[in-house]
Amino acid sequence: MKPILSISDLAVSYGHIDAVKGIDLTLNEGEITALVGANGAGKSTSLLAISGLLKPKRGSVVFDGEDLTRLSPHRIVERGVVQVAEGRAILTTLTIAENLELGSYARRDKSGVARDLEWVYSLFPVLKSRANGLAGNLSGGEQQMLAIGRALMAKPRVLLLDEPSMGLAPIIVQGIFRTLQEINRTGLTILLVEQNVRQALRIAQRGYVLETGKIVLADSGQALLDDPKVVEAYLGG
Ligand SMILES: Nc1ncnc2c1ncn2[C@@H]1O[C@H](COP(=O)(O)OP(=O)(O)OP(=O)(O)O)[C@@H](O)[C@H]1O
Ligand SMILES: [Mg+2]
Repeated sequence: MKPILSISDLAVSYGHIDAVKGIDLTLNEGEITALVGANGAGKSTSLLAISGLLKPKRGSVVFDGEDLTRLSPHRIVERGVVQVAEGRAILTTLTIAENLELGSYARRDKSGVARDLEWVYSLFPVLKSRANGLAGNLSGGEQQMLAIGRALMAKPRVLLLDEPSMGLAPIIVQGIFRTLQEINRTGLTILLVEQNVRQALRIAQRGYVLETGKIVLADSGQALLDDPKVVEAYLGG
């Protein structure tokens, strides 16, 4: 198992509120890592710090031998660490195809972009059949698919997701999680933040449990699913 991204002693505050209090977390290349925890535990804050949208108070996020905390969000995306837009922040007045195109704006490899577009369309056939329709007419689940597709068009080496299941019906969530596994099988490393603890740990090789800004448990996804503390706190006894 080869680490691809290593977080050390990461601390992030909002003014006097210490949201993340010095966490260590490693993503192994080609694995799905789940970061789970209750409301307000600091999951989104951690992702925003990795993406460069929040400046940490201390600590490092090392990717490919480089500390991402020194880079702008734009440069971090260029390096290949890409977060799926929060709340499906897709551009509703543009078409689906145009939204996907935006994901690849920084790329020069035209043939690679064309290949990835076909790949995204094969992962999410509904996006292909409605490519020229307005993104605003998509359902919640389809918008989430588009947000994931747009992130894939940036050619990520690490994909970050913040609660992709939020607000979606269980059957849709199943589909999204299956597709994340399919994406992972191509070798793409994924950091998955979820409140849907059971499903996230099921598809994750490794998981971390965050409580009030601190990592309290780290183990394989399966070991965490079997851990009585996890069962009691997050899986409804
Ligand atoms: N913009 C902000 N200003 C001040 N405090 C914030 C801000 N955003 C988050 N917080 C606080 O930081 C802590 C961590 O919040 P964060 O959003 O990272 O948690 P989370 O684990 O993502 O929760 P959720 O499951 O609800 O999404 C919480 O105490 C929250 O109230
Ligand atoms: Mg959150």
